[in-house]
Amino acid sequence: MQFKNLLITSEGNTAIITIDRPTKLNALNKATIEELHYAFKDLEKDKNVKVIILTGSGEKAFVAGADISEFANFSEKEGGKLASKGHKQLFDFVENLSTPVIAAVNGFALGGGLELAMACHFRVASHNARMGLPEVSLGVIPGYGGTQRLPQLIGRGRAMEMILTASMIDAAKALEFGLVNYVVEQEHLMDLCMKFAGKISNNSPVAISYAIKAVNAGFNNSINGFKAEIEAFGSCFGTSDFKEGTTAFLEKRKANFPGA
Ligand code: COA
Repeated sequence: MQFKNLLITSEGNTAIITIDRPTKLNALNKATIEELHYAFKDLEKDKNVKVIILTGSGEKAFVAGADISEFANFSEKEGGKLASKGHKQLFDFVENLSTPVIAAVNGFALGGGLELAMACHFRVASHNARMGLPEVSLGVIPGYGGTQRLPQLIGRGRAMEMILTASMIDAAKALEFGLVNYVVEQEHLMDLCMKFAGKISNNSPVAISYAIKAVNAGFNNSINGFKAEIEAFGSCFGTSDFKEGTTAFLEKRKANFPGA
């Protein structure tokens, strides 16, 4: 697929997806959501890609939300469909991707932008980043998982405050809330994300995919997370990665994981 709204680059085993609509502060229109789906899907299949970093083009925004101009005239039915399709195509899809995704939050992450960052496996922000779910100021509510993932990440009271006031928080407050793991100067943001990507890449991709599945299971009401962990733990024992990881340890050498 040719991407009009994304730039895909790579460095070693890390792929970088840059949402590239800087004149619209990288707002998520329908085409961009679809492109992101295919980009993540392709990169997940690529055995050479061990980590994906997601960021926004320019110095101002990660993503300033869903593209308001596209849904301003929607009916109730269209609104519902927009949310359910978005969950499936992008937000749940990213959260459940077997390849780890780090959000490099390089500026505004608002509405669907913050929801996208929250669907990633963890977040690192630059000092200029500002985050919020301003939907109620537009007469709507967060519809791409924000009402669920924000309280999961920062607690119900703080999430209620952010959602009901529609206010933005700065990077320092996001760090205090645990919404992002680190805050750095913008020029160091990608370097820090690459450092994490390097560390992740040394580990077993298969074990990593099982770990993501097990952690996510605990946030899914229809799944028993502990049971999911036990099953995933057992499955690891049948993998070549497990054989290599344990053998390398006993032979006092660095593991070279085959990824199966
Ligand atoms: N959807 C569509 N277009 C958007 C957008 C969005 N969510 N966010 C920004 N843009 C567009 C603006 O319309 C503007 O386009 P134009 O130059 O063609 O008029 C361009 O991006 C630049 O934005 P602008 O508002 O001029 O920048 P700013 O620095 O004055 O303000 C923000 C930055 C982020 C505070 C402001 O753009 C904003 O509030 N955006 C909407 C945030 C939002 O409510 N998101 C949730 C959507 S559900």
